[in-house]
Amino acid sequence: MTTVVAISGSLREKSYNTMLMRAAAGYAPAGTTFETATIKDIPLYDGDVEATHGIPAAVAALKDRVAAADGLLLVTPEYNNSLPGPFKNAIDWMTRPPADAPRVFAGRVVGVIGASLGAGGTGLAQAAWIPVFRTLGMVPFFGARLQVANAAKVFDDSGAIVDDPVRALLEKYVARFVQFVAQHAAPR
Ligand code: FNR
Repeated sequence: MTTVVAISGSLREKSYNTMLMRAAAGYAPAGTTFETATIKDIPLYDGDVEATHGIPAAVAALKDRVAAADGLLLVTPEYNNSLPGPFKNAIDWMTRPPADAPRVFAGRVVGVIGASLGAGGTGLAQAAWIPVFRTLGMVPFFGARLQVANAAKVFDDSGAIVDDPVRALLEKYVARFVQFVAQHAAPR
């Protein structure tokens, strides 16, 4: 059984990225457990909080979910042509304490997709995540790309994808990503 945890990097109720994450889960092939996760309960990183209280419960829980998975899929918005602060904050918390970061990230397959209102479809945000993956010793999946541009026209109010080419690209991305995860998952 291949297990993937997908995290949406948006807190918005009607987030296109959360819609994209849920749609991706619907394309998970048989034999795959595709879990979805939120960063909603993750506080702002504060070294004083860490020193006094340790790792917040929501952070510890998300770390454990990723550590138990074979692959991690980030579904990222794009803010000012880069990655969004709230999402980076969540990943930063998850790298604490440093001695525990390899358990969560090192050798783990990671993919990144995203949806934005602009024409670039989060291409610059996706590129901005790459140095983070490298720093954490992750295994990036580059076998397909999904940059959902002009997102307001791609999803309906219920979150369904109404754009056939995007639906086909998502299906292809998920199939290739899951296959790559199954091939490259670190032995447990
Ligand atoms: C944006 N947005 C945006 N879109 C884009 O295509 N390129 C960009 O650089 C930016 N920059 C940006 C900065 C900030 C601070 C905000 C709040 C928004 C628009 C963005 O694509 C839009 O808000 C999406 O709806 C965000 O994703 P969710 O929340 O729908 O998942």
